[in-house]
Amino acid sequence: MLNVINKARPIGVFDSGIGGLTVVRQLISELPNENIVYFGDTARVPYGSKSNSTVIEYSLQNAKFLIDKNVKAIVVACNTASSVAIPALKEKLHIPVIGVIFPGAASAIDATKNNRIGVIGTRATITNKAYSEVIKSMNSGIEIFETACPLFVPLAEEGWTNHKATYSIAEEYLKDLRELNIDTLVLGCTHYPILSEVIQSVIGNNVTLIDSGVATAVAVKEELSKLDLLNSSSNKGEHSFYVSDVPTKFKEVAELFMGYEINHVSKIDLEILQKY
Ligand code: DGL
Repeated sequence: MLNVINKARPIGVFDSGIGGLTVVRQLISELPNENIVYFGDTARVPYGSKSNSTVIEYSLQNAKFLIDKNVKAIVVACNTASSVAIPALKEKLHIPVIGVIFPGAASAIDATKNNRIGVIGTRATITNKAYSEVIKSMNSGIEIFETACPLFVPLAEEGWTNHKATYSIAEEYLKDLRELNIDTLVLGCTHYPILSEVIQSVIGNNVTLIDSGVATAVAVKEELSKLDLLNSSSNKGEHSFYVSDVPTKFKEVAELFMGYEINHVSKIDLEILQKY
């Protein structure tokens, strides 16, 4: 009985904002019976242009908020937070912590045939060489080419998924990568799957796009199963959403990222986070 209760505890997911809903969408599709608590730090987004120490501090606060919700595992949906905060989170927390970098990197290695992988992400993710170091540690024979595409974040939030401005910015960002004969491109940011049509058309159809969120959902399932923590209930999971600010256009952007409407979101005070 105790174990059944333990397994029914929710999975906690945090992100710097709304972008992590692309990961929640994949989690729901892979693990439909799991309860999920999502926290988006919309008051302090973006993380992609902040220093590592600030991102680590915010990540610890976000994780503690989720721990108070009695989560059984934490998924760091944000690539920027995953690239710097995983060691600190693992040290402080006594539950599994799963970031998006490792599963995304492994999935890219599986996909490449010519051992030439491109990675795009926020400035922080690219400067930290988050993906390239993990890929190199798994297979030193792979060549990695990385480019920061910071403007993709506001374009995705604006819903400009097929806008000519998005095409021309993608042309600019991806023109060098296109010359490098990569056959796989990691979408190393929560927002980029929203722009995958544009990115695919600019980089070329012969390049496989890797959505880290898809790979992460599979990794979460594997980890929970290994620890015998998968929810044994056959009911559809319950999902709750918390944010530190409710931005204008929240509803539209959340729907775009999740694929369906979120009926209820709770706003929490930043002071609650800051006390941790
Ligand atoms: N969630 C961030 C990421 O995946 C993108 C937005 C931000 O810069 O905070 O890196």
